[in-house]
Amino acid sequence: MVEIKKKRSSFEVIMKKALFIGLLIVISTTIKSVESIDWQASKPLSVAVIGTGYVGLVTGVCLAYLGHTVVCIDSDRKKINTLKNGACTIFEPGLEQLLHEVTQKGLLTFSTFNPEVLQDVQVIMITVSTPTLPTGQSDLNAVYSVINEVSSVLSSSFKIICLKSTVPIGTTNTIEKLLHDKGITDEHFALVYCPEFLREGNAVHDFFHPDRIIIGSSYPRGIRCMQQLYEPFITHNIPFLYTDPLSTEVMKYASNAFLSIKLSFINEMANLCDASGANIHDVAQGIGLDKRIGNAFLNPGPGFGGSCFPKDCASLLYLGKHFGTSLHSVKAALQINEEQKKKPVEKLRSLLHGNLQGKIVTVLGLSFKAHTDDVRHSPAITTIQLLLEEGAFVKAYDPVANEIMRQLFPTITYCPSAYEALTSADACIIMTEWPEFKSLDIATMKSLMKDRYLIDARNILDCEELA
Ligand code: UGA
Repeated sequence: MVEIKKKRSSFEVIMKKALFIGLLIVISTTIKSVESIDWQASKPLSVAVIGTGYVGLVTGVCLAYLGHTVVCIDSDRKKINTLKNGACTIFEPGLEQLLHEVTQKGLLTFSTFNPEVLQDVQVIMITVSTPTLPTGQSDLNAVYSVINEVSSVLSSSFKIICLKSTVPIGTTNTIEKLLHDKGITDEHFALVYCPEFLREGNAVHDFFHPDRIIIGSSYPRGIRCMQQLYEPFITHNIPFLYTDPLSTEVMKYASNAFLSIKLSFINEMANLCDASGANIHDVAQGIGLDKRIGNAFLNPGPGFGGSCFPKDCASLLYLGKHFGTSLHSVKAALQINEEQKKKPVEKLRSLLHGNLQGKIVTVLGLSFKAHTDDVRHSPAITTIQLLLEEGAFVKAYDPVANEIMRQLFPTITYCPSAYEALTSADACIIMTEWPEFKSLDIATMKSLMKDRYLIDARNILDCEELA
């Protein structure tokens, strides 16, 4: 029997003058260590990973950890030099340690693009970014320019080309046609689409514990090569799904869109619970126990962000239009998300009787979620924008994203600690579920703040303790 926690309001605990509002809850996923992983590929391959962003760097480092020889390639010389000097270019828990380990073993090297580097590799992985244009169309310039560069080495040797970037429906087939049009025959390449399902902040763990590996290809040699590359996963019974590239392309978008819809749904339910006095945590737990629904991705929050869900939903809508089919659920998920991102400031405004002018508001957490320094589409951006528009002064703190957010909002005050950000503040909004915010000392917060309005947009603080 599962015990439902003592019922409490998901939203309000009133303490003297202070109003502590628990909007939503996110339980951060434990970053599991990879030290216990001793999987090794029995027939290591030599791999070039082109595009050394989040997906490329994590994939390159982790493939090297499996024993493959990897060269990570990027056109950004500064980035490559930084990596060559042993520094990690992204904040990703556990990655730096693995990076040092595999570079010391000589399994991972870095290079700017140079056809010579590709001469001896067996697999070319494409992990460049595919940003969404304002129309929702994906910008595939980076993918096609890599294909152009790579095509020059294909005529002299056989390579497996493995596309990892999220790409619109039909892209893999277009690439195949492009190569054929250049006179490169199937004797020189095999093409595979093998999308990545890594979550930022959990990417190393996700790499070694995937729910599934999807292989979209009509090239038997390409499929065999992927089996060799991911052999340790086959040995450890990770499901492999083999299908055609078109279905794989849809699958990648459908996964992210489905999760976006799930999040927008639970966020709407949280708002309904807030309005009616019901407890969203109990509701989420109750529905999540139904195996058909599942308990993952039911933590409401200030809206989803990051480089994937907003971009992939927008691309999917564009693709829906292109193929003449409506995708109402995806459209609604995005609309609900835009509204949800405004909620923390709306809550604060209503507490302060509609006037934020001149108030000092502390924003704790700037990245789009904990364990990453990525601020792309972060709900904190909407919060800061709205606060500034309404005449508030913003003091911000994030354990790792201060400097990145400074590029977007250079004029607000960035603090070196949460307590410093809280000093003399009228109000505080917690935007990201960083563990250090969960252990903030309430008495210290109370003594530091001028006034004590608190919006906990992730509901990470204990309402009973606050009361
Ligand atoms: C997402 C997918 O989860 C990955 O499987 C996929 O590979 C990746 O996109 C991609 O396409 O590259 P990511 O965006 O890094 O990964 O992060 P998530 O952990 O999925 O979180 C996305 C957003 O949902 C964040 O803003 C997070 O705060 C929010 N979220 C997530 C919630 O508000 N509640 C939850 O219960 C879970």
